[in-house]
Amino acid sequence: MAKGLLSHLLFLSVIVLCNGNYAGCPEYYLLKPCTCKYRPEFNVLLCSTVTNSTDLIRVLHSTGNWTFFTLFVHRSNINYIPTTSLINKRFKNILIASSYVDFLFDENLDSENDVEIIHLNDVNFIHPFKWEWFRPLKKLTYFNLQYFSVPTISTQISSNFSSGLRYFLLSNTNTSRLEDGVFVNLKNLTEVKIRYSLIEELSRMMFPVPAKLEKIDFTGNFIKSLPDDLFSEMPELKIVLFGRNRISHISRSIFDFVSYQLDIFNLMGNPLICDCNLRWLQNESRNIIHGICANPEQLIGVYLTNLTRENFDYCEP
Ligand SMILES: *[C@@H]1O[C@H](CO)[C@@H](O)[C@H](O)[C@H]1NC(C)=O
Ligand SMILES: *[C@@H]1O[C@H](CO)[C@@H](O)[C@H](O)[C@H]1NC(C)=O
Ligand SMILES: *[C@@H]1O[C@H](CO)[C@@H](O)[C@H](O)[C@H]1NC(C)=O
Ligand SMILES: *[C@@H]1O[C@H](CO)[C@@H](O)[C@H](O)[C@H]1NC(C)=O
Ligand SMILES: *[C@@H]1O[C@H](CO)[C@@H](O)[C@H](O)[C@H]1NC(C)=O
Ligand SMILES: *[C@@H]1O[C@H](CO)[C@@H](O)[C@H](O)[C@H]1NC(C)=O
Ligand SMILES: *[C@@H]1O[C@H](CO)[C@@H](O)[C@H](O)[C@H]1NC(C)=O
Repeated sequence: MAKGLLSHLLFLSVIVLCNGNYAGCPEYYLLKPCTCKYRPEFNVLLCSTVTNSTDLIRVLHSTGNWTFFTLFVHRSNINYIPTTSLINKRFKNILIASSYVDFLFDENLDSENDVEIIHLNDVNFIHPFKWEWFRPLKKLTYFNLQYFSVPTISTQISSNFSSGLRYFLLSNTNTSRLEDGVFVNLKNLTEVKIRYSLIEELSRMMFPVPAKLEKIDFTGNFIKSLPDDLFSEMPELKIVLFGRNRISHISRSIFDFVSYQLDIFNLMGNPLICDCNLRWLQNESRNIIHGICANPEQLIGVYLTNLTRENFDYCEP
């Protein structure tokens, strides 16, 4: 599940500016059982297969004033990340994967921390998960949560995030409902991803107006149709991913707002009906819509990009 996470975080590190003392790694006896991966300016405190939950706190204490760009906890048990360490260690990236954690932070932080990236992949929290943990992270731009149940995403939940948040990414969270207005106050969002969940409906009211969104990814949900105005006032939108949903019809009107700026609109794995209602597709000069016809019978298996004018000859003019 957490494969590729390390290379991903190194990539992320490169795009984040830094200042402060990140030069070098402390000696191993201070870090044990964690290790430090030295990258000029971007060193990583890596705690993998740490079984004693008190070890992380001990390491944070024994490394004193050493700072780290990234904290990466993997296949470990930890109590929590002391909020004092967020300030001392100047962590910018916090990544936890396949681990048991009592709770994320021990007390309410003030906003003096530098945390920009939170990535939680398959983390089992022993105590209740609190969205308030993210409230003091005023510099947070990237939030990624995977394999953790979040049935509803409400405006209350999203109000805990910094208004500078740019990436809101969930996967396998069993999310079935997004409240109207849920992302409205996150005006700088450039990517919303909620993959492999249970969402059935989307509405334009969920997103900011105008929205700076460049990418929308709802791959692997139960969406049956998309409202015509979904992409209105999204002048930066380039990538739209709705693969593996239940969409059967796409109307021309949904593209009125975005057809010339989109690079890709993915509908693979949807039961698309390629009947006369889809005839407008013939007039689209760019092949940006990807999907496969599931109906009518004579077109089953044909790619949208391969439909020809003849396929619609039988339709009323
Ligand atoms: C965990 O670490 C603490 C403090 O270093 C120590 O007292 C305790 O014995 C350790 N527990 C285990 C199970 O190793
Ligand atoms: C750590 O930093 C604090 C505050 O800057 C300073 O007072 C303290 O002496 C430093 N400790 C060490 C071991 O350098
Ligand atoms: C933060 O999220 C919680 C839900 O976990 C919610 O109850 C609370 O109202 C939110 N806090 C604020 C200040 O919006
Ligand atoms: C999501 O729901 C399925 C089916 O109920 C369950 O097996 C799975 O563990 C749930 N996932 C999470 C992250 O809670
Ligand atoms: C949103 O983005 C703009 C442009 O990048 C930036 O100037 C502004 O400070 C950001 N807003 C917040 C709340 O971070
Ligand atoms: C396609 O474009 C032609 C010429 O602009 C127009 O007459 C026709 O109605 C369009 N067909 C559809 C299905 O939109
Ligand atoms: C699309 O059409 C081309 C040319 O007729 C054909 O070679 C190709 O196999 C078709 N692709 C699919 C996926 O149907």
